[in-house]
Amino acid sequence: MDSFELNKIAGAVLGSLLFLMGLGIVSDAVFQHGPPKKAGYDLPAAEESAPGAATAAAAAVPLPELLAKADAKKGEGLMKACASCHSFDKGGANKVGPALYGVVNRQIGGLAGFAYSDALKTKGGPWTYAALDAFIANPKGFASGTKMAYGGEKDHTRRADMIAYMRSLADTPAPLP
Ligand code: HEC
Repeated sequence: MDSFELNKIAGAVLGSLLFLMGLGIVSDAVFQHGPPKKAGYDLPAAEESAPGAATAAAAAVPLPELLAKADAKKGEGLMKACASCHSFDKGGANKVGPALYGVVNRQIGGLAGFAYSDALKTKGGPWTYAALDAFIANPKGFASGTKMAYGGEKDHTRRADMIAYMRSLADTPAPLP
């Protein structure tokens, strides 16, 4: 074997080494690896002890508690949305909806001179705080077929503020629950 032959072999070996190194650099760039973001294995998360318990608890603040902290002034602001259909002052006229002065503990659908839907006429019972809360939260859910075209207020503190304002619309506001 002459030196020319040896040079060719050495060249081939060096060449493939260089090629492999290059491959390593390129693959490092393509498949970035570093320390894992989170150490250890991904274990399935522990079962929530009671799914939704927290949300249910948040929604379940009892109405009397909410009313005790409610702000009638804020309620008055919120009820601007109702004023297009309802009057609030004493002796106020019925508009699209019945007059709301003295509504707390009034018979449901009971104001003379207003043409209620059958849904409210046949509901029965007085407008307790709880009934008002349920009606404002979801009018159609409370009285399916009601003609009150209002989507409902989902926030229970806002509803309590509104009920506090309605309570104030009376000569002698009804006692708080
Ligand atoms: C688009 C008009 C409209 C808006 C807005 C509206 N209401 Fe009414 N409301 C009505 C009508 C109509 C009725 C009668 C419903 C029936 O007979 O089914 C009614 C009935 C009521 C009653 C029952 C009163 C009774 O004498 O039995 C209450 C309480 C009431 N609305 C509160 C509210 C509150 C609070 C708001 C605002 C958050 C509001 N309404 C917004 C039209 C409206």
